[in-house]
Amino acid sequence: MTLEQFEQDIEALRSGALAAFTAAQTAEELEAARIQFLGDRSGLLKTVQQALGAISKEYKPAAGRAFNAIKQVLTDAHEARGKALSRSASPAADLDLTMPARRQWRGGIHPVTVVIDEIVAIFRELGFTVALGPQAESEWYNFGALNFPANHPAMDAHDTLYLKGDVLLRTHTSPVQIRTLQTFPPPIRILAPGDVYRRDFFDASHAPMFAQIEGLCVDEGISFVDLKAMLSNFARRFFGAAKTRFRPSYFPFTEPSAEMDVECQICHGAGCSVCKGTGWTEILGSGMVHPSVFEAAGVDAEKYSGWAFGMGPGRIAMQRYGIPDIRMLYDADVRFLEQVAE
Ligand code: DAH
Repeated sequence: MTLEQFEQDIEALRSGALAAFTAAQTAEELEAARIQFLGDRSGLLKTVQQALGAISKEYKPAAGRAFNAIKQVLTDAHEARGKALSRSASPAADLDLTMPARRQWRGGIHPVTVVIDEIVAIFRELGFTVALGPQAESEWYNFGALNFPANHPAMDAHDTLYLKGDVLLRTHTSPVQIRTLQTFPPPIRILAPGDVYRRDFFDASHAPMFAQIEGLCVDEGISFVDLKAMLSNFARRFFGAAKTRFRPSYFPFTEPSAEMDVECQICHGAGCSVCKGTGWTEILGSGMVHPSVFEAAGVDAEKYSGWAFGMGPGRIAMQRYGIPDIRMLYDADVRFLEQVAE
């Protein structure tokens, strides 16, 4: 046999075997092709190997190399086809079933919203409904109708974020008192949660935008006793055993006025950076509605009286969750929110 003939046999073996392996669609078909081409006893590769013996000595080394090469190619092709068939027969064979699953992200309610919802729920039991007002307010609703003297320092352009003309971003939720009194006749019991704006630095205890909750109760014969009873009831419901205290204060739209403090829940009264070393945190301002406010809103101040408060749910959330820096409420850092979101 010449080398040329031998190489032709090898080429025929290669194309025939590769075509048969590729055409095999099942493990059984592949096995039949293997026996036909690579079988130990009568496979075509074996026949070619036997032909090697008939090659003249001179060409034997080249023929031997060609034989070894084709044997390797066909063995590899058979193995690859076998793997491909077992993959398609069972798609899971290629998956790593021990790989940890991707983590689920679950949305939560922001701690300030949780606090607002809870406060609204407590007062709802006492007959309070929710009222809302605009965040872009006029100077009159934000200051004038609330009995701020015309030259009050809070109206200074530096303390307030003005938009156009006398329109500003409200600095508190108290203007909702006026809007409610103008719209509905007493008896009135409302809570007005919403965002307010101040020209404040963004530091550990201040933010230029934060939430407030206004409360307003107006009827015939409402007295300071009602104010104190309502707020004490609220504090007991919300803070449980934590100590609270009332302090006399001043607001242009209430007379008399008082602020309510709760014992700092972060240091439990020992004094820390959040309570500025006092052991107490102010959570609300309050008082009896000033007659000038009734007058501005067109309510008969001889007939009606009422009380009001303004709370800071952000501060209350900080107290409840032990949050040392107000900026954490705005950062949207998932590592923090995961711990407090409900
Ligand atoms: N509006 C006040 C502020 O933002 C808070 C406040 C104090 C509201 C006393 C009231 C109140 O309704 O009676 O600082």
